[in-house]
Amino acid sequence: MGYDFDTSAVHAGREDFLELGVHTAPLDLSSTYPIPDLEEGTASLEALAHGAADAPQKIYSRLNQPTVARFEGALAKLEGAEHAVAYASGMAALTAVLLALRVRHPEDARPHVLALRPIYGGSDHLLDHGLTGCEVEWVQANEIARKVRPETRLIIAETPANPTLKWLDLEQLVADAQGTPVLVDSTFATPVLQTPIAHGVTLVLHSATKFLGGHGDVLAGIVATSDEEWAAALRHVRVITGACMHPMAAYLCLRSLPTLPLRVRRATETATELADFLAEQPAVSAVHYPKADHPLLGSQMLGRGSLISFELAGGYEAAAAVMKAVKLCVPAVSLGSTDTLIQHPAGLTHHVVPEEQRVAAGITAGMIRLSVGLESFEDLRRDLSQALALAATTAPAAAPEQPSAAAPQAPNSRVES
Ligand SMILES: Cc1ncc(COP(=O)(O)O)c(C=O)c1O
Repeated sequence: MGYDFDTSAVHAGREDFLELGVHTAPLDLSSTYPIPDLEEGTASLEALAHGAADAPQKIYSRLNQPTVARFEGALAKLEGAEHAVAYASGMAALTAVLLALRVRHPEDARPHVLALRPIYGGSDHLLDHGLTGCEVEWVQANEIARKVRPETRLIIAETPANPTLKWLDLEQLVADAQGTPVLVDSTFATPVLQTPIAHGVTLVLHSATKFLGGHGDVLAGIVATSDEEWAAALRHVRVITGACMHPMAAYLCLRSLPTLPLRVRRATETATELADFLAEQPAVSAVHYPKADHPLLGSQMLGRGSLISFELAGGYEAAAAVMKAVKLCVPAVSLGSTDTLIQHPAGLTHHVVPEEQRVAAGITAGMIRLSVGLESFEDLRRDLSQALALAATTAPAAAPEQPSAAAPQAPNSRVES
């Protein structure tokens, strides 16, 4: 019998608890395991080292790890996927996907990848760097059908996009890909709001550091897929590179999954109110938050999410002043935590992106990104209100945008994503 999503969030990864006689996930911190039968040990090592999910004999926690495997099973279930492979961080997960192209296509000198901006700054950095040996071509969503080649191995996109919160139509993306596998970074959505595999996407990536961990105490990443060959290649790369998720991180994620739907929905409600509040502030020139009548709302995305980006009329100085003036919101990168985090994409999360590309992607010097947490709307409103008022007194009245920035928005304009 299939359960509703909220029920699955509570019970995924607990299927054998009754049999085990436990009520919380067993946390196995072993790095190595006794191997009394050498023959069985060798056969198990052979299988695990080449990407098997499991084997009769546990060998070493870089090869497979029971607490991590339990989290992988739970997340796969919530994404509607057959498999999930977890890593030490979201960046380790994306690196593993790119390296898996070399495992899957050893004949390619430089596997061809199409990627869409904006995307998390660290992902942009990795894709642009050339470190993984892939040939990455940056494209707009409407260019994919034209730019995809028979030898293109992967298309990489992020929706909702960090930090502009623009949504991509996944079914359109998959149609334009014409059979090329699509990877979607769904970190901002979580499986509460979006399950890309149901729309034909091959690989779904999460920085589990964010909503899945949910409390700011975990660094982890995970890739979900229903493609067995991809899953095996991803595990194979993990064995080779050793970018493993720590079992304590897996335990904490398992502890956090049951409250994921509640956290995401509550933060979304507050974000919706805050987006309306921000749009009325004279110091705010633009608010980026998905529209209430967005065509993908209800079909692809089941909610507008808890991230808001907004632009200050006073540009960089005003944004820096707001970061300094907040008392309740925490001025810090990351997102999806219980507390509200406020940060400056151009100066922090997307600083590594070349300025020209950053500005072309709509990331201006006056932009602030807010990850709304679980505090009350009223307290957050008061905090932002005093910070904006203070910023208005410290920032030059009409500070110029950075030279190459897009034209400033008229005050109060509501730029919706
Ligand atoms: C959308 C998105 N994807 C991936 C990452 C990278 O994840 P991690 O920091 O866990 O390596 C981040 C980090 O901020 C992110 O925001």
